[in-house]
Amino acid sequence: MKPFEVFPLYDVEIVRGRGCKVWDAQDNEYLDLYGGHAVISIGHCHPHYIEAVSRQLSRLGFYSNSVRNSLQVEFASRLGHASGYEDYSLFLVNSGAEANENALKLASFHNGRTRVISAAGAFHGRTSLAVEVTDNPRINAPINHCDHVTFLPLNDTAAWVSEIEKGDVCAVIVECIQGVGGIHLATPEFMQAVRKACDATGTIMICDEVQCGYGRSGRFFAHQYLGVRPDLISVAKGIANGFPMAGLLIAPKFRPVFGMLGTTFGGSHLACAAAIAVLDVMESEGLVDNAARVGSYLMEQLKGFDKVREVRGRGLMIGLEFDKSIKELRHDLIFKYRVFTGAAGSNILRLLPPLCLTRAEADEFLTRFDEALRTF
Ligand SMILES: Cc1ncc(COP(=O)(O)O)c(C=O)c1O
Repeated sequence: MKPFEVFPLYDVEIVRGRGCKVWDAQDNEYLDLYGGHAVISIGHCHPHYIEAVSRQLSRLGFYSNSVRNSLQVEFASRLGHASGYEDYSLFLVNSGAEANENALKLASFHNGRTRVISAAGAFHGRTSLAVEVTDNPRINAPINHCDHVTFLPLNDTAAWVSEIEKGDVCAVIVECIQGVGGIHLATPEFMQAVRKACDATGTIMICDEVQCGYGRSGRFFAHQYLGVRPDLISVAKGIANGFPMAGLLIAPKFRPVFGMLGTTFGGSHLACAAAIAVLDVMESEGLVDNAARVGSYLMEQLKGFDKVREVRGRGLMIGLEFDKSIKELRHDLIFKYRVFTGAAGSNILRLLPPLCLTRAEADEFLTRFDEALRTF
């Protein structure tokens, strides 16, 4: 048997990492401005994380969700405090798509409706409901075409409000900074008007913070720049620094009913130990503030490059839009200049480094980026 080939691969294998650096099988060192796709929050192989995960693994890796797990209670309390959502509840799952899937189900259980509004360019994952609210026909199979979803342009307040005011919309789902869609930011005016319309009609507001959340934007959640409190907030990626984990933060108005949601693996002992260790490090090293500080510095510097048409983003979630395809640039950055970056579409370079990126590492990236642009 061999892997099912659905990922176009770069011809490089990463075998170890430390902080914001990774090394390939030939021991070449790379600067990681990609964070393994926005997943590495506290840096690769942080000693506290290794110690906490190893200690938990030597005690108990997993037991069923049918018995008490005080690590889940501890993690929920810590996350509530860190994020400013102490009055919310937490449901733990394994991936971002699964968190969004459960958000949409919970919204529908709550108000009994089935219509969803999602943004043009949105990406919410690949499971059935999550992919249906994702604006990409190529990754929706015929079985996903269930007519639940209306896609409207992000920040088109009038269009969203008039659709919500029809009164039959179950939920709206928004990435306050679109990741896959190309680092487009929702505005405070838009989100506040949508919040108001949702309140007036019993529509549920879901913020997908899978990529833009968990400190990446320079605040714990990207929507915290916009003056709204969503009813449901999905988190994943950086939550456990690479251990597969995700969660759904749930407003007090949702009433839990035994059996309405469930999971075998979600919130395992090992996952919770990893997630608690991530919060320990985020707090002790001030990583949300670091993301804000180093991110602003990086964005200011990047605005000085003539070949970059536009710089967008917040904190350490930055998009660089070019007038032409970045395929070769991204390739050269890896193989000539030893820097990993992400992409969105054909023309946008996406920077999603670990939140512990230092100013010296940002400068090192800027030097290599400058060199790479000379031949681009
Ligand atoms: C905003 C957003 N939502 C959901 C997902 C899906 O997460 P996962 O791949 O963990 O299912 C992603 C993944 O890139 C994402 O960027």
